Parts: sequence; structure tokens; C-alpha cells
Amino acid sequence: MLWQLGLTTLAAFGAWKWSSSQEQTISYAGIAIPPQAVVIDPRAYNVLGEHGSFRQNSFTEFFNPTNTSPPFFQIFHPEFLRVLGDRPTIRTIASRPGTIFAHEAPVWFPESDEVFFGSHCQGPEGWRDCRGNNFMSKISMREVKDAVRAAGTKYGAPLNITVTQLETPEVRQKTWGATGPYRSSLILINSGNVDHPSSLALMNPAPPYNVTVLFDNYYGRQFNSLNDGKIHPKSHKIFVTDPTYGFLQHFREPPTLHNQVYRFDPDTGHVRVVSDELIRPNGLAFSADGNTAYVADTGAAIGFHGRNQTLPATIYEFDVNPKTQVFENKRVFAYIDAGVPDGIQLDKFGNVYSSCGDGVHVWNHDGVLIGKFFVGQVSCNIVFAGDGNLIILSGDQVFLAEVAAGGIKLAYP
Ligand SMILES: *[C@@H]1O[C@H](CO)[C@@H](O)[C@H](O)[C@H]1NC(C)=O
Ligand SMILES: *[C@@H]1O[C@H](CO)[C@@H](O)[C@H](O)[C@H]1NC(C)=O
Ligand SMILES: *[C@@H]1O[C@H](CO)[C@@H](O)[C@H](O)[C@H]1NC(C)=O
Repeated sequence: MLWQLGLTTLAAFGAWKWSSSQEQTISYAGIAIPPQAVVIDPRAYNVLGEHGSFRQNSFTEFFNPTNTSPPFFQIFHPEFLRVLGDRPTIRTIASRPGTIFAHEAPVWFPESDEVFFGSHCQGPEGWRDCRGNNFMSKISMREVKDAVRAAGTKYGAPLNITVTQLETPEVRQKTWGATGPYRSSLILINSGNVDHPSSLALMNPAPPYNVTVLFDNYYGRQFNSLNDGKIHPKSHKIFVTDPTYGFLQHFREPPTLHNQVYRFDPDTGHVRVVSDELIRPNGLAFSADGNTAYVADTGAAIGFHGRNQTLPATIYEFDVNPKTQVFENKRVFAYIDAGVPDGIQLDKFGNVYSSCGDGVHVWNHDGVLIGKFFVGQVSCNIVFAGDGNLIILSGDQVFLAEVAAGGIKLAYP
């Protein structure tokens, strides 16, 4: 209802842009628009007209009709205001120009209040050179919070906190996913390399960062390149996706398995397939009750072989069979308008977040796009580091969004 009121005169939605010289909150028809935010009424762009400028490419041209400089919040629906709260901020907290140090595998370790993550390929050519291992780093949320406090009320003022690169064992090769913690260790999903199998492993979050591999084969065959995963909130079994990106980025041998989602039982060692219905299964998350699974299909991204916009860039929703935990009743949850959906997280309101081509997109439970954390470049993964702190990995930068939302439980016994 509130939204209806707010929309009646939204023809000039550009007028809602927050200017960095202002500190006050702009309110319109009862909706308080926080700093660093723009409101975009879908109806204001439903007709672009015969001379409209249409996008050709979702990977290189983004939807930013207010032409606002990133990072900022795009509000498509008033439900996003609940996610943001009254005084949200979004800013860079660490940057390494020219180095994809913050690519994937973010995981928060609550005990030390640190966030761990992995780089992309380590070679001098970054994305073009995937022969070496990637490296893992960590940041301290205590240092982040101190730096944010010191920056005061300067909304979005960029910071550059300490990034500590870790010495990790050789067996950890190309960590593309992480979650947990699980039994006080981080869960790592390692894509592997030409001479190292893909694996699911535990890593000690303290020095010497020792690693124990839980599995690295399906009854003798290597996985394609394990990519991402989560612990199921009820059964505590570990679910992982296995697309062929290692081969498509020239660091794995030709695949020998169908692209699938697997369930691993850490107690019995059993592994089984729970879904074979996706072209390139990528990010994965469960609803808090464990009854629903969300899986990203990044079919449209074909590694070094380019992109095909007619293939899925889609998050699918499944029922999780209560007995077998097979993913059933596949249906579209959201089709991404910028790049492909990569990592997925849920917040405590039941909203679904995914890192995409221009930042992080947020949908409500019904799959309606309610807002974006628009950073203007690819984000591959995200994690809540406690209530109110969303960490956004974006290649050569890490962003922090301070919001009202918090994540759901990812850690298990
Ligand atoms: C942030 O600090 C790192 C390490 O000192 C440095 O390499 C990097 O260039 C800094 N970023 C910016 C934007 O200055
Ligand atoms: C790391 O090593 C310690 C000491 O040997 C051991 O207790 C722990 O289980 C190991 N953790 C992992 C994840 O390998
Ligand atoms: C894109 O994918 C579709 C569906 O698989 C296929 O028919 C088409 O040839 C592909 N286009 C290109 C340019 O590869």
C-alpha cells in the first residue's frame, strides 16, 4: 500500500538519487530513502519506446537508469527497506588493484570474527592464466568495525584494511567454495587442478591452517571441479555442486561425470546424487527450515569458451525430499538480469541473495527482485559476518554493506 502511494509520481526517478554532499535522509510519500540509495519504480522503465536504448549484453551493460556511481543501493520494492534499515552503508573495505584476491569461498568464523576467502588464479594474467593454485586470505571483522567507526558518518568512505594471506597445504587446490564452520573447521570446496583431484575438505581456521580431505572421488572417478556447497540445516549432511569450470578454464582434464549436485554424509562416508537437472550447477543454499534448496545454474557462462545469453543465468528452486533429500520439483526462482548468479545466501527474513554481474541481487521469498547492492562489477560470492554485516567479494575489492538484515545459521556441530 505504502508502495502504491510512493509510486504515483515516479516519472522522474532520477530525482531520488542521494547526493554524497547530503547527509540527511530523503523521505517521499512516507517512504524514507536512506543515503546511498535510489528508488527505481519498475513502471518507469516498462516502456523504453522505439528510440529507447536497449541493452545487448547482460555481462557488460548493466541496468543503472539513474546513472548513479557505484557502490549504492537500488531499491525496486519497499521490502528492500527492511533489509537496509534506517542507516545502511556500502563501501570498499579492502582493495588490491589488478589482483583478483577476493574471488570466491567466503566463510565467517564467528569465534575469531574473521572472514576467510579465496583468490582467483594466481598467475600474472589473472583470469587468463589458471595454471597455479589460488591463495586464501582472511580479514578481521574487528579491524573492519574499528575502521568503520573511525570513518564516522562519511557514508561510503572507502577503507583499505589488512588482508592476511595464508600459508596452506598443497592439497588445498583452487578453493572455489567454502561454508560452515563445521565442527570448528571451515568447509572448503576445492576445484582441484590438472594434477590434484577436486575435493571437499576441512581446514583449521588457525595456524598452521592444516587441511583434512573428506572425499575426492565418486567411486573411483574424479569430480569435474567441485564448486560450492552448504550444510543442510536439519540432516547436517554436506551438499556440493560439480560443474565443469575447471576444464572450461583450462585447469582440469576433460570431465568424466555428468554435471550434478551431490550429498555427502560425513558420518558414514556415503555420497549420492541429489540433482542432475542443471547445466552448470554453481552456488547453492537452503532455506532455514531445510525444506527448500536454491541452486544457481550458470549455463550462460562457459569459461574461456565465452558466453551464451540463451542459456540459463537462473536460480532454480527445489523441494528437498524429507526422506532422501533428493532435490525435487525444479522451478524457476529468478532469472538474472546482469551476468550469472554465483554464490547464494539467505537472510533471516527469508530473502535470497546472489552475487551477479553488477553486484548482489536480493529477491523476496516469492522470487520478486526487491533490490540490489550495486557495485558496478562482477561479484562472485557473499557472506554475512554476523547480523548486519554483508561481505561482498568482488575480485580486486571487498565491499561491506552495513544493513538491518542478518544471515541464517550456516555453522553446525
Ligand atoms: C590497499 O593496500 C594495499 C596493501 O598496502 C595496496 O597494495 C593497495 O594498492 C591499496 N589500495 C588502494 C586503492 O590504494
Ligand atoms: C589440524 O591439526 C590438529 C592437530 O593435529 C588436529 O587436532 C585437527 O583436527 C586438524 N584439523 C584439520 C581440519 O585438519
Ligand atoms: C547458444 O546455445 C544454444 C542452446 O544450446 C545453441 O543452440 C546456440 O548455438 C548457442 N549459440 C552460440 C553462439 O554458441
